[in-house]
Amino acid sequence: MALSVHLLRPWQKLLVGSTASVMTSKWSRCSSVLSGNRVRMVEKSPNSTDPETSQGVCTIHGKQQQQATPISRAVFPPQAVFKRRFSALCGSSEVQEGALIMEKVCLNEAARMVEVEWSGGGVSRFPYVWLRDNCQCPQCFNPDSRSRLVLMSDLDVNVSPVDVTEVSQAKGSSLSVEWPDGHKSRYDWHWLKERCFSTQALSERQKDWQRKTQLWGAELAHNMPKADFPALLTDDRALYDFLVRLDSVGLVLVQNVPCDVGQVEKLANRVAFLKHTCSGKEFVVMNKTKPGSDVAYTSVKLGLHTDLNSYTYKPGVQMLHCIEQTTGEGGDNSLVDGFNAASQLKEENPDAFRILTTVKVNFRHVGMDYHKYFHLKRRNVISLNDQEDIQSISYSDQSRTSILDLPADLVQPFYDALKAFNTIMCLPRNCLSLKMAAGELIVFDNNRTLHGRSAYSPDSGTRHLQGGYMDWDEIYSRMRAIKADLGIEA
Ligand code: OGA
Ligand code: ZN
Ligand code: ZN
Repeated sequence: MALSVHLLRPWQKLLVGSTASVMTSKWSRCSSVLSGNRVRMVEKSPNSTDPETSQGVCTIHGKQQQQATPISRAVFPPQAVFKRRFSALCGSSEVQEGALIMEKVCLNEAARMVEVEWSGGGVSRFPYVWLRDNCQCPQCFNPDSRSRLVLMSDLDVNVSPVDVTEVSQAKGSSLSVEWPDGHKSRYDWHWLKERCFSTQALSERQKDWQRKTQLWGAELAHNMPKADFPALLTDDRALYDFLVRLDSVGLVLVQNVPCDVGQVEKLANRVAFLKHTCSGKEFVVMNKTKPGSDVAYTSVKLGLHTDLNSYTYKPGVQMLHCIEQTTGEGGDNSLVDGFNAASQLKEENPDAFRILTTVKVNFRHVGMDYHKYFHLKRRNVISLNDQEDIQSISYSDQSRTSILDLPADLVQPFYDALKAFNTIMCLPRNCLSLKMAAGELIVFDNNRTLHGRSAYSPDSGTRHLQGGYMDWDEIYSRMRAIKADLGIEA
């Protein structure tokens, strides 16, 4: 999962505070901290004779340039070091706990970057054009909508600063940049650090976008992720933890749900809102006298599937709430981690995996439910992202059409691949069986967790489920918002 970059990172929680003593540094010239190019530089003055503070990478007063800290290894010194150094530089002023100061700032004209040497070690480089594009002043950026007001049509992508200075405050340094038209920009140290371009920072940020997936098989039945419905409705932390499990496991059993219609919507409204589809906002799953267009509205066995593969934006998450369960045999749900099954297929049958990741299958839903509809979509059964990780499963024998846009010679291998995937899904080690009791609700990732149902007898009492969908964009958005509100760390 990808969580927002604006959420607090460990080092950020240490910052903030009011302004106190302000000290502006002066200009001189030196070699680039990284490339040795001639650059303009500002040094800490007058107290930078402190042997610790003068160990930076820019030369001072024409002394020979010291070894530059490779940008990829730029690190933050311990907080104590900042505090001590800032005190030394600013006399009596105390830098706030964890705040960073900039030892030197340089204009590297050859690289067209501002180079910032952090007190205690580490150098960050900020391209001129990026700094100008991201000026945070009210003329350039609307803080309420967090929107850039500088438009590309007005941006000079070759702009260079005429002046750059470091401004020290109790809350840490900020970088002040003056542009040729007299415009002035100011960037706080933590804002810059959060956007650092170093190899290390880039790879740290990349991790934020990686989903923490926990694969499972039938054994999950003994350790089923569970949530309490009343808690989800009232407690944001419980809701957050539930969504984290839904994201990493792809399946959560919610308990203590009232046995009335409308609960699926209540849960969705706590997260964001229901995704409206051709089945309506919520839908009733029952053995209907007139099943209409969905075989789920009968009592027959439903093979493992993901829902609404015929949509370009198929629902990200499905909810099925058991209001009444059949008193007879059957009506059990089968649940399979499609990511796990697809990984096993990749390992055991790479040819089949390749076919299912490349051949486009037609999925169709035609009928009349909430309204008259005709959905059609061609997609891979297993889709990969640009890192070649399994990203989404779209499988349904029910809605896969008979039109196969394949040369005849490739049809048999395609069926062999589908069969191999289905066989893996159905293995007892992979397929979890769950007969929901009235008052239970399963929530699962419709891009990952396949669900099915065993047949039941329509004569053994009523089986009544209510279903609904949500989208991952709304779920992730809610998770980020709760995380920020409650100050939850990564
Ligand atoms: C569905 C479905 C399963 C069931 O409605 O999408 O798969 O248990 N229902 O009835
Ligand atoms: Zn501006
Ligand atoms: Zn279904």
